[in-house]
Amino acid sequence: HPIGLLNGPNLGRLGIREPDVYGTTTLSQVEDTFREEAAKLGVVVECFQSNHEGTLIDQIEHWTDKHFAGVIINPGGFTHTSVALRDAIASSDVPFIEVHLSNVHQREEFRHRSLTAGVCEAVIAGLGPNGYYAALRHLVGQIRK
Ligand code: DQA
Repeated sequence: HPIGLLNGPNLGRLGIREPDVYGTTTLSQVEDTFREEAAKLGVVVECFQSNHEGTLIDQIEHWTDKHFAGVIINPGGFTHTSVALRDAIASSDVPFIEVHLSNVHQREEFRHRSLTAGVCEAVIAGLGPNGYYAALRHLVGQIRK
C-alpha cells in the first residue's frame, strides 16, 4: 500500500514564497527527494498539492478508499482553521503525520493552535523539508512492524 504526501495551500509556491521562513527548495524538488527516499525504502508514494480545502478532503477520502498505508500532511494555513479537514482525517483509518516546515511555535500566536494535530499520530515542526522524510521513515518503520 502506498504512502501519500499531501501539501495544502500556498505550498505549491515553496522556494519562491517567503524563502527566509520556508527555504529555497521548491515543492517539486521536495517531492523528487521524497520519491527517491521512498524508492530506497522500497515503498510506493503519491504526492498531491492543492490550495483548496474541499480538494484536499476529496484526496483524503480517495487515499482512504485506496487503503493507503499512511499520509504525511502539511495542511498549511488550514492547520489553524479547518474543522472540515480535521473531520476528514478523523474519519480516515489511515495514520496521518502532520508536518510543518517552520517551527510554528516560534511564530505568531495564531499558528500555535492546530485543529488537525489532535487527530494525527505525530507532529513534526521546524525541520524544513527533512520533516517530510523523517515522517516517511517513521511510517515505513511502522508498516514493517
Ligand atoms: C506551515 C505553517 C503554517 O502556519 C502556514 O500557514 C503554512 C506553512 C509550515 O509548513 O510551516 O502555510 O504549515
